[in-house]
Amino acid sequence: MADLDDLRDGNDFGLDKPVEQGGFYMKGCDNNSWGFKDRLSRIFRPDTGRSVMLAFDHGFIMGPTSGVERIDLSILPLAPHADCLMAARGVIKACIPPTYNKPICLRSDAGTSILTELNHNVTMDVQNAVALNASAMAIMLAIGDPATEAKTIANLYNLVDEAEKFGMPVMGVTAVGKDMARDARYFGLASRICAENGASIVKTYYTEGFENVVACCPVPIVIAGGKKLPELEALELCYKAIQCGAAGVDMGRNVFQSEDPVAMIQAVGGVVHDGLSPEEGFQKFNDLKS
Ligand code: R5P
Repeated sequence: MADLDDLRDGNDFGLDKPVEQGGFYMKGCDNNSWGFKDRLSRIFRPDTGRSVMLAFDHGFIMGPTSGVERIDLSILPLAPHADCLMAARGVIKACIPPTYNKPICLRSDAGTSILTELNHNVTMDVQNAVALNASAMAIMLAIGDPATEAKTIANLYNLVDEAEKFGMPVMGVTAVGKDMARDARYFGLASRICAENGASIVKTYYTEGFENVVACCPVPIVIAGGKKLPELEALELCYKAIQCGAAGVDMGRNVFQSEDPVAMIQAVGGVVHDGLSPEEGFQKFNDLKS
């Protein structure tokens, strides 16, 4: 207990200054708990409302694909320039020093590899994600896939039930089945289904008409980069997504397979956070390139 000597009455109550009641800055996220908002604000920069998430969860399905063979050599140099790291638990624990203090979006489902079809997948226990100090959990939804749609939607639904008890945001990742049209209608449908079933962040793909996908999704959307493109084209993709209202990118191959990944992630950051045009971003890439 504090020393009772010299207890002073308070006299600075700021009566002329109303308490600011500002709503939370991320779309559709105001009615969540303090812990949820704290976690989300580690991923999405409060000054821009956006995020450059670095995805290197590829190995959990693809094995040691190009650029993620040695996480220590390829990913660690990028980490200081990312707002958030997205990967599976094995790689986070084995390869990412906890002293990096980077928010983690934890890939939290498993059961599929590139050697087989999309699978039903199981999800990780939320307490394990809390133990890893994850700032969000990410799982895949296979909307439109007859074999796995119901199970993957149920996975999201059940995970959100548990995650809410811990203030843990869940990101729905829209997996595109082979027979799906990669258009705004499909991505709008898939994103909305993720959000309606409780996802607080949706990861999907940019497409023509993306403004409609963003407009009818009530929570923030980030885009995947997809296959490796020339740097200027990848920066155009980021720019167009941001112009359409995306809250950032969760990009992998277009960063870690770049000719100069450290320069590329900073150029992406320029487009996402600093309003650079694709050409200005590309200039930044060239300036930083070693
Ligand atoms: C999708 O399930 C995963 O998160 C992918 O590993 C990720 O989207 C790939 O990122 P990118 O397409 O930018 O390489």
